[in-house]
Amino acid sequence: MPTQRTSIHGQWSSRLAFIFAATGSAVGLGNIWKFPYMTGENGGGAFVLVYLVCVAMIGVPIMMSEVMLGRRGRQSPINTMRTLAEEEGYSRLWGLLGWMGVLAGFLILSYYSVIAGWALAYVFRTAGGVFNGATAEGVDAVFTELISDPERLLAWHTIFMAAGLELAVRLLMPALFVLLILLVGYAMSQGHFLEGVRFLFEPDFSKLSGQAVLMAMGQAFFSLSLGMGAIMIYGSYLPREASIARTSITVAVSDTLVAVIAGLAIFPIVFAHGLPPTQGPGLIFKTLPIAFGHMPGGALFGSLFFVLLVFAAWTSAISLIEPAVAWLVENHGFTRVHATVSAGAVIWTIGLGTIFSFSTWSGPEYTLFGKTFFDLVDFLTANIMLPLGGLLIAVFAAWLMSERSASDELAMGDGPGYRIWYFLVRYVTPVGVVFVFLNVIGLL
Ligand code: TRP
Repeated sequence: MPTQRTSIHGQWSSRLAFIFAATGSAVGLGNIWKFPYMTGENGGGAFVLVYLVCVAMIGVPIMMSEVMLGRRGRQSPINTMRTLAEEEGYSRLWGLLGWMGVLAGFLILSYYSVIAGWALAYVFRTAGGVFNGATAEGVDAVFTELISDPERLLAWHTIFMAAGLELAVRLLMPALFVLLILLVGYAMSQGHFLEGVRFLFEPDFSKLSGQAVLMAMGQAFFSLSLGMGAIMIYGSYLPREASIARTSITVAVSDTLVAVIAGLAIFPIVFAHGLPPTQGPGLIFKTLPIAFGHMPGGALFGSLFFVLLVFAAWTSAISLIEPAVAWLVENHGFTRVHATVSAGAVIWTIGLGTIFSFSTWSGPEYTLFGKTFFDLVDFLTANIMLPLGGLLIAVFAAWLMSERSASDELAMGDGPGYRIWYFLVRYVTPVGVVFVFLNVIGLL
């Protein structure tokens, strides 16, 4: 019986352990670093609205599908997809979906680690009081100096990739949340809070290009860790009794809440200091230090904030590498440590490209269509590979897999919950992803 499969890697001790692990994967730099700057670059409210719609209509159903496939297959995404495809009478080539996920995970982690390195560097800058009483220009200069020094970035990127400990997510995540709330409190005291709120929630559709819709959809996949097998492999360790729908919704809601609160903390500071919201990947590094530089206890709270951000990034990084690690263990008998170190070495090397993207490789000789190595890797993964992975997952779960297997694994009976899932995954998700793709290449 396929439903009796067990994972050779073990199983979460409870539904709650899975929720913590999956939230740990979802909440990371995507929420606190990427969401604000993407929102800033894409005009605010309308982008946020599309993002929220994508989370609800595409993200949650895909997350349920990934968990469902993972729990049914109980192996690395490569082997899970192979096994399930064979079982349902389709080609083993579905394993390629797992391979694309491994590649996407490597590429994402290669730059993720560099940005986490920035956050790590900021732990020491804030703790040392570098930002006390700082102005927007001063903070900008500190950031620019950091990213234009490849050797220093290399050190921080290396430290992040090499850090091997897994700390209590249960404590650190709530702590990060509390500090974010504290930052929102500071932002409220700055007199430009409503401007920030309006920027985030007042949709101005004239600012919404087809490209921005693709970005919003990509951001939904990125932030929820979907489309590359991370949630699938975590699902493969999920106990049989746990409700897939409830856990997925819990994870998606927590993730979205963190992103929105980060936006509420950052944009009021942006407007209070007359900064442009469109400054890209440096946004949080140029705004939050201003807040820390002026609030009482800022050095302490600031360094704590960046420590927690690094841990949030760390729990996400683990999920980016896990599909590859599980495959190396299953198919090549690697130990987990050996597998992680080997994959980590490859990812570290790719990360060098991102380091140079911010300095020596930022010139026109090293860019393609005006995009640096970092921009290209980010675009290719978040906006192409993840949605494509999600599309294939949806097609497999709702068109190819027999309805009996899917509904048996989801265990929701034939109630409205199941029907909504089925409708969304069968029609809304595939049509939505294809529509956005066609729109961007100009065919629609
Ligand atoms: N979701 C994480 C964040 O927002 C990043 C991440 C972890 C991820 N695992 C993933 C992104 C898998 C895409 C796919 O920071």
